Amino acid sequence: MEKKQIDWSNIGFGYMQTDKRYVSNYKEGRWDEGGLTSDANVVLNECAGVLQYAQTIFEGLKAYTTEDGRIVMFRPDMNAKRMVNSAKRLEMPVFPEERFIDAVTQTVKANAAYVPPYGSGATLYIRPYMFGSNPVIGVKPADEYQFRVFTTPVGPYFKGGAKPIVIKVSDFDRAAPHGTGHIKAGLNYAMSLHAIMTAHAEGFAENMYLDAATRTKVEETGGANFIFITKDNKVVTPKSDSILPSITRRSILYVAEKYLGLETEEREVCFDEVKDFAECGLCGTAAVISPVGKIVDHGTEICLPSGMDDMGPVTKKLYETLTGIQMGHIEAPEGWIKVVE
Ligand code: PLP
Ligand code: COI
Repeated sequence: MEKKQIDWSNIGFGYMQTDKRYVSNYKEGRWDEGGLTSDANVVLNECAGVLQYAQTIFEGLKAYTTEDGRIVMFRPDMNAKRMVNSAKRLEMPVFPEERFIDAVTQTVKANAAYVPPYGSGATLYIRPYMFGSNPVIGVKPADEYQFRVFTTPVGPYFKGGAKPIVIKVSDFDRAAPHGTGHIKAGLNYAMSLHAIMTAHAEGFAENMYLDAATRTKVEETGGANFIFITKDNKVVTPKSDSILPSITRRSILYVAEKYLGLETEEREVCFDEVKDFAECGLCGTAAVISPVGKIVDHGTEICLPSGMDDMGPVTKKLYETLTGIQMGHIEAPEGWIKVVE
């Protein structure tokens, strides 16, 4: 298979149409057998549930080329499970986990020419999603749904790649207590659009959201969880019912303990203690681990001791170990790597 002629090292985090996508439709209580199509467009009734009441959920994972030339995916079973939880919370039918894994595998295989080569710094981002497709005008769940998967080659989520970013404490909330912050629903991201545009206009790369009820505890950003490193090298990550359970963050905690012998803590993190941490990073499929150099709270600057030039030393070790596992040059824990071909 010949790779596409793409300047892999210089692509950003954007959409590039690839050759094939997967589609399965749910009607009269069952999913059809599904399959690949070349048609990237979705035609919907004007009153479709997704268009009127935002009944849509999604996932995000990546495929990588390993050093020995295989194409692999990182923990797709975890995305399949999280999508089940998202579907249940939005009253949507569950797309079976084994079918999810088959669908993403088929889609990546069909777009193998777009999987960036090893060492290019780019990866193939995989976007599974599902939405209510039939007309709904009273507020209720749809009866018909479409599950789809597309892929797009991507580079770093933040401009500058591994350079530390500056973020602000947001005045807006991302998720309500007992709301939908813990699932991957499009509505959470719609909530964050005004906040991210505001942050960008003020020169910040991202928002730090605090808990909506008390505004004293650190939650997450618009597209990633936080990790903090204490001055005695402990990895601390916020625990909250209203943040997305990041697969990257859960993998990092495992890697920290089992590969690097570091202590980890998943607990409530008060905003007041952020000034005492040595390092801070954003973690997620898109963000990988992006270092934070400075956090600005209404004009008060918190400058992380790791500085604005490079990742802090512990963040760097975590980054190298995690990406080493994903790219296949560090042995992965059992079941983390799914070989596509
Ligand atoms: N938090 C939010 C709001 C996200 O959108 C994402 C991205 O998926 C994450 C965290 C990171 O999750 P994961 O590591 O599973 O990609
Ligand atoms: C991901 O990391 O997969 C996400 O969904 C985050 C989004 C900002 C692209």
